[in-house]
Amino acid sequence: ADRYAVFGHPVSHSRSPAIHQHFAEQTGQSLVYEAIDPGAEGFTAGITNFFDKGGLGANVTVPFKEAAFALADECTERAARAGAVNTLKVLDDGRLLGENTDGAGLLRDLTHNLGVELGGASVLILGAGGASRGILGPLVDAGIGTLHVANRTVAKAEALAKRFPEMTAVTVSGLDRLPTRAFDLIINATPSSLQGQALTLPSGLLARDTLAYDLAYAEGGTPFTRWAEQRGVPGRDGWGMLVEQAAESFFLWRGVRPETAVLLKR
Ligand code: ATR
Repeated sequence: ADRYAVFGHPVSHSRSPAIHQHFAEQTGQSLVYEAIDPGAEGFTAGITNFFDKGGLGANVTVPFKEAAFALADECTERAARAGAVNTLKVLDDGRLLGENTDGAGLLRDLTHNLGVELGGASVLILGAGGASRGILGPLVDAGIGTLHVANRTVAKAEALAKRFPEMTAVTVSGLDRLPTRAFDLIINATPSSLQGQALTLPSGLLARDTLAYDLAYAEGGTPFTRWAEQRGVPGRDGWGMLVEQAAESFFLWRGVRPETAVLLKR
């Protein structure tokens, strides 16, 4: 059977195998999709071995997205802009194509599934690592009005903002010096929820119709989405983004676009 996999460390809790198996059944495609943890230092050796043995494509998750970018022989424009790759595909000539479907997945979830109007929106991004870098380009392209990047280490927020010179209404700060105004959209792009921690955030960031969106997903919500919901404000975890980025990857590999609606209901 055609072989695909997700590489991550850790990866045992990944829902990607179940999502892709569902897509395969739904579209009548025959494929096998497994989760592989190559160890903290084993990514390049592990994935090279996977492709040598006939693997056709792979998803790449934390902490290997930058390494996957370095490994790819050729990258799409969005992957180059993100400096990170979450999807690898073996091309007909054997070279490896690197793509990043995270930003597209987030945008599809926000605009299509959740009905968020991004044009002119005020957006607060928490965190300035690879996850933030992967989603900022598509958000800027969607015409957001203002952007504030807040990070524990301010210098990293400044460096990230500089990568998007076309976005003029940008401010940055430390997580401990957040603005005192409310935002239309707050995105938690720190791994705090994966660590089971809640960020300490002032309630003034929230208005009644703010959307608090966590890139991490968890059954029953994350510490961040619960923070918002306990204050009567909608919170969403990253399940929709995960499903939508998977659909984009599946399309790149198989040329067929799967339906996401059933999975989104979970
Ligand atoms: P990723 O590629 O998943 O974004 P990363 O590059 O390690 O991971 O970046 C994680 C981001 O979340 C960083 O901006 C990090 O802050 P620093 O730049 O100060 O290290 C931030 N981060 C990680 N854990 C955090 C926590 N518990 N609280 C607040 N910020 C955190």
